[in-house]
Amino acid sequence: MSGPFRANVAAMAGYVPGEQPQETGFIKLNTNENPYPPSPRVGAALRKAIDASLRLYPEPLSDTLRAAAAVVYGVEPSNIIAGNGSDELLSIVLRCFVESGDRVALPHPTYSLYDTLIEIQNGVRAAVDYPADFSLPAGLAAQNAALTFLCNPNAPSGTLVSLAEVERLARSVSGILVVDEAYVDFAESEGASAIPLIRRLDNLIVLRTFSKSFSLAGLRIGLAFAPAEIIAGMMKVKDSYNLNRLSLTAATAALQDLPWMARNARRIQKSRKKLSAALRRMGYEVYPSHANFVLARKNGASLKPVYEELKRRRVLVRYFDAPGLRDCLRVTVGAPKEIQALIDQMAALGA
Ligand SMILES: Cc1ncc(COP(=O)(O)O)c(C=O)c1O
Repeated sequence: MSGPFRANVAAMAGYVPGEQPQETGFIKLNTNENPYPPSPRVGAALRKAIDASLRLYPEPLSDTLRAAAAVVYGVEPSNIIAGNGSDELLSIVLRCFVESGDRVALPHPTYSLYDTLIEIQNGVRAAVDYPADFSLPAGLAAQNAALTFLCNPNAPSGTLVSLAEVERLARSVSGILVVDEAYVDFAESEGASAIPLIRRLDNLIVLRTFSKSFSLAGLRIGLAFAPAEIIAGMMKVKDSYNLNRLSLTAATAALQDLPWMARNARRIQKSRKKLSAALRRMGYEVYPSHANFVLARKNGASLKPVYEELKRRRVLVRYFDAPGLRDCLRVTVGAPKEIQALIDQMAALGA
């Protein structure tokens, strides 16, 4: 394999050969999964859906799920498209809006899949470095791009840009603005989501996933919210039956139990505070996180040996062998016991 194909494998949500969830005995704090199970309503709905109807194709336009999501998020079904994970929606967006030679702007560092998708489309990557505090970099709009990415809260920093800034950015870019809100349900501030803005901005696409706050990474479900014209275009590009019957059933049931999701998000916020405080006590700089992970930096040190030693001790965290991130570890906010095990191992290492 070469070129973007190899890069795509490497970009998959922190995929590292030999570090797969199927391997037991690891404490897995490297791919930002939710430590809590999905709502019991999801299990009940799935069990009910496993019957003879599996011989039938699923709804091609995910109508039932979109109707439920429209109610929850206060938009019309025509403002929503469902995808096989938000990764599929990202791919559809790029295929819709980026042609060979088009510029694609994004802050750096951010979710690594964006780079891969730009490469696959033969787009021109126009990256603007985040300032040291991960506030929104000036100069994104000046890139004159067909499409601009903003991951908010950002991965891997966990930092959040205000809604007012998102709106200003959308109004100042020349093309489409994609706001990836994979982690927004974990934000400290309510009302951080840009979904309401799609009513008054004709160039905004907001992405959500069921993989994080809804604990359904294994079923691959994402949603994109945008003005109806954009959604109609994306519908033409997607595969006919891009979500299977069980994923659609699970996502619709998950939306019927928002208190379950919100309760787990609050538990994760609480654990995030504890984890951040413990890492700070060990001498790490920890960015204010609005996600289900934290980025911890030990200025100038290479943290690869710490990552490797933790792995040897069967604790997986995320290390980025990339400029500007080699002195960082990204740690998923796991269950309290998992976090305590990480802290204990780091203390034992003197890391
Ligand atoms: C910023 C961001 N966007 C999208 C995704 C992918 O989400 P999904 O599982 O819905 O494809 C991830 C997964 O880690 C992510 O970190």
